[in-house]
Amino acid sequence: MPTQIIDGKSISSQIRNELKEDVKRLTDKGFQPGLAVILVGENPASQVYVGSKEKSCNELGIYSEAYRLPADASEEELLSLIDKLNKKKEIDGILVQLPLPEHINEEKVLLKIDPDKDVDGFHPINVGRMVIGNPRFLPCTPWGIQELLVRTNVDPSGKHVVVIGRSNIVGKPIACILVQKAKGANATVTICHSRTKNIEEIARQADILIAAIGQPKFVKADMVKDGAVVIDVGVNRIPDASKKSGTRLVGDVDFEAVKEKTSAITPVPGGVGPMTIAMLMMNTVKSAKHRAGEV
Ligand code: GUN
Repeated sequence: MPTQIIDGKSISSQIRNELKEDVKRLTDKGFQPGLAVILVGENPASQVYVGSKEKSCNELGIYSEAYRLPADASEEELLSLIDKLNKKKEIDGILVQLPLPEHINEEKVLLKIDPDKDVDGFHPINVGRMVIGNPRFLPCTPWGIQELLVRTNVDPSGKHVVVIGRSNIVGKPIACILVQKAKGANATVTICHSRTKNIEEIARQADILIAAIGQPKFVKADMVKDGAVVIDVGVNRIPDASKKSGTRLVGDVDFEAVKEKTSAITPVPGGVGPMTIAMLMMNTVKSAKHRAGEV
């Protein structure tokens, strides 16, 4: 049977449409959701992400503020901007785009964000809430992966999920979310990383394989069990002379070869990527509902 290509673009657009009603109701009540995004420096990928976040806010009727600080902005400057936004009542969500320049301490910055406005879910308080299974804000990319599975009718319950990658943004939180005793979870989870022995053999045991390592085409067809579901979180730019830009986006999965074995697979682009922004919008609306006393 041909594999199902999981259409993250269409699923994320469905979620954004569902959110429009909430945004309208909240706005009519005087609680228009508001998001502030902070970018430090000129990382090209980050610039694209921040632009997409602003665009998505506009499309949904969410109030947005974008702060673009120079690469040499001081840590104090950034911390005082966060402090100002923590106190600003029109702002329900604050997102500091990562990675930050070397001279800025990421941990200090994430700790400064009011946990009630931490729509990225990176503050240790929100990480703790996620771990104990009582989340306020789930991190957007892993939550988007869970939502993709749910909306494709892939129930992780009892399945073996193998995650390749252990980052704080994707690998660790997706493992934590899918292992919970909860709907859309209840999986048996293995996390693999650069020091894992026999990574190919472990990957082959996965009913659901999640690749989040940042290495182009790392997952080959011989690492995938017949009928597995493969989720590709990779966003890698590789040289491609046939493109005007001279580069092309590829995931962590060798898509063309791997798709011959899967029952469902996400493409890059158009798989997990668009879900991250949809979940950020969800978290921002959730935070505004909290301000409005609805939740
Ligand atoms: N950089 C890559 N992914 C993310 C994300 O989800 N949030 C933030 N703030 N930065 C990122």
